Amino acid sequence: MEVIITSEGSIGELVADDIAALLAGKPDAVLGLATGSSPLRIYDSLAARVQRGDVSFARARGFTLDEYVGLPAGHPCGYRTVIDDEFVSRVDFAAGAVRAPDGAASDLAAEAESYDRSITEAGGVDLQILGIGTDGHIAFNEPGSSFASRTRVKTLTEQTRRDNARFFGGDIDAVPRHCLTQGLGTIMQARRIILVAIGKGKAEAVHQLVEGAVSALWPATILQHHPHVTVLIDAAAASRLQLAGYYRYAYANRVAVA
Ligand code: GLP
Repeated sequence: MEVIITSEGSIGELVADDIAALLAGKPDAVLGLATGSSPLRIYDSLAARVQRGDVSFARARGFTLDEYVGLPAGHPCGYRTVIDDEFVSRVDFAAGAVRAPDGAASDLAAEAESYDRSITEAGGVDLQILGIGTDGHIAFNEPGSSFASRTRVKTLTEQTRRDNARFFGGDIDAVPRHCLTQGLGTIMQARRIILVAIGKGKAEAVHQLVEGAVSALWPATILQHHPHVTVLIDAAAASRLQLAGYYRYAYANRVAVA
């Protein structure tokens, strides 16, 4: 696992560089897209690059990680709306190229299964962007999630609903109690994973993710078993890391690998 500690602005640029390099070599790449505040700088940078004509998503496809259950289609807090507003509508994806699980489906189990299958049928995710919850969740895989889990319905923790209430006008009662989420086993099949985290509130979760024991209590720790993960964090999110000095040293002295 590579850990890069840098400013929020350069996190956005570095991840956008990686995505641009992937698309240059594989224009029809499959991207795993995350919602939440952490990836916003990445999407801003990519939108600017598309405007300048430096990058194109015209042949790429995308899959989002998760969705609330029960919000009507088009709800402003639904992750389908959020990813469309913050990223998809600002770049040049072909119509229908970005899929998201449908949290308003009448048969949620069938929707989960078909969503998971569609990722496999697309050839799997080349590069997955992830954020992390304060309780260590990735996508919406809350503590206790099976490391082998596939896309399914999960119940959100109080902590996650409290954290996400800011998107619902501060009203925790407006935050749904359930979600559809890619499983940890689904996410682990991505060929490359880039996790971004900003701010002190993420410091404990980042410490557990990078340096803690692999445990169902901190679902993100499963990423220690993935062969190609990059964790990009700002100094505040890195403030609990025991080996922060080493990660900074390793990055400053990195070797260019072809
Ligand atoms: C939500 C999402 C996650 C996201 C996390 C952190 O719960 N389901 O995919 O990583 O929040 O969000 P933020 O980046 O806004 O802190």
